[in-house]
Amino acid sequence: MKALIVGTGGVGESMAAIAKRRDPSGELFEKIVLADYDLARAQKASQRLGEDRFPAEQVDGGDPDAVAALAERYDVDIICNMLPVNYAMPMMHAALKAGRHCMDSGMSLSEPHPTDPYNKVGKLLGADQFTLHDEFEKIGKLALLGHGIEPGMADYYARYAADHYFDEIDEIGIRDGATLEIPGHKGMAFVFSIWVTIEECTNPAVVWEADRGFYTVEPFSELESFLLPGGIGYQEMGHIEHDEVVHIGRNAHLLKGVKKASFKYAVGQEFTDAIGVLKSLNLHKTDPVDFRGTKISPRDFVAAVAPDPSELCKGLVGITSSGTWVKGKKDGLEREVYLCQIADAEDVLGRLGTQVITAQTAFTAVITMEMLATGKLAGYMGNPESGVRSPEEFCADPYVALMAAYEFPGGLMEMDSEFKRAQDRRALTLPLD
Ligand SMILES: NC(=O)c1ccc[n+]([C@@H]2O[C@H](COP(=O)([O-])OP(=O)(O)OC[C@H]3O[C@@H](n4cnc5c(N)ncnc54)[C@H](O)[C@@H]3O)[C@@H](O)[C@H]2O)c1
Repeated sequence: MKALIVGTGGVGESMAAIAKRRDPSGELFEKIVLADYDLARAQKASQRLGEDRFPAEQVDGGDPDAVAALAERYDVDIICNMLPVNYAMPMMHAALKAGRHCMDSGMSLSEPHPTDPYNKVGKLLGADQFTLHDEFEKIGKLALLGHGIEPGMADYYARYAADHYFDEIDEIGIRDGATLEIPGHKGMAFVFSIWVTIEECTNPAVVWEADRGFYTVEPFSELESFLLPGGIGYQEMGHIEHDEVVHIGRNAHLLKGVKKASFKYAVGQEFTDAIGVLKSLNLHKTDPVDFRGTKISPRDFVAAVAPDPSELCKGLVGITSSGTWVKGKKDGLEREVYLCQIADAEDVLGRLGTQVITAQTAFTAVITMEMLATGKLAGYMGNPESGVRSPEEFCADPYVALMAAYEFPGGLMEMDSEFKRAQDRRALTLPLD
């Protein structure tokens, strides 16, 4: 497998570090080209990896011809877009031009409804990308959308839960929280792409219901207290715009007839307030403004001056839990589970040299490349072989089976339910050892 990663920030560099650790001899990941418009950044990542199979290149992800030419020069099998999500479309056009598979970790941009933004959807996340479905089918290649952790693992988990743990599903909710902190750091800390964090935290949040379709609510609204495992405990979390809701809504037929999908994240009051300040100052906006004769996009400016998450977050300590909460029925009994991935910031930094949030994002993309290379993705168990696809469209069994080998093991928290109580009662009648 040869891959081109465009965007060697936190996630792109973590992908390469994970591929190297999984496959030290280069039998599986023969070549991974690291490309960025900031060549020094790609070179730094390449030098840290210290092997010829990770060369550094300069490319602009907004230029499909240049990305396609690079993909052709190295004859890669797949182009991985690890850029901010506003590059989703040029990167997909690059893959079409070069005739390669492509993968990303987010979705093309949504647009708020012009008159009723906290109720109706304007343009849905990913809507532009799905228009290219037929073109990818025509060239017989896959465009794999949203292969990070959330989206990504969370979507594979939705499919895994449907296939293994439920007969019927009422609701799937992605729920994420952490005990992470950076000792000594004061103020706001972005933990991954600053541009994208501002986008998702200021846009109306999307929710899906089978009988209502996609609709929107205010970001951080409908706070709920959710119990996260591994000692994290109860955390307050609210709605945020996220791709999983779109993937789940579009693929309800593969998910035991799920009726509702939502995404909630525990960001904490300090972070919510800081986003509020950015918004009140119009610093979240992307349209360029005139500053003493120079055009500047306020959000690009914030991203350029704020501390770089991939470096700052190497100081994180604590644990983080990402996962998929599923509620439905099994054997006629109500059941609720939370399928999760819990990672310890210091452990991850110690073994990969990259910070926990971007490393946790990156492993799903690398597992998916391994599945593609070993025949466990395209065509496997009736999986699609081409087109623009959500993770839910693929059998998740090989993915879940590989998580532990990648040192990001999955976990299942059986939540209090009729099903769990019946299980507990059965266990209580077993003879003691
Ligand atoms: N699915 C998930 O779970 C998940 C989680 C975290 C991040 N992400 C996504 O992963 C992507 C990367 O995030 P990150 O934290 O690594 O961001 P980052 O800001 O650390 O890195 C982005 C890199 O892209 C480069 N870049 C920007 N514009 C470019 C251009 N035009 N051409 C070439 N290079 C360019 C930058 O120089 C930088 O190195 C983002 O889209 C983010 O939303 C997904």
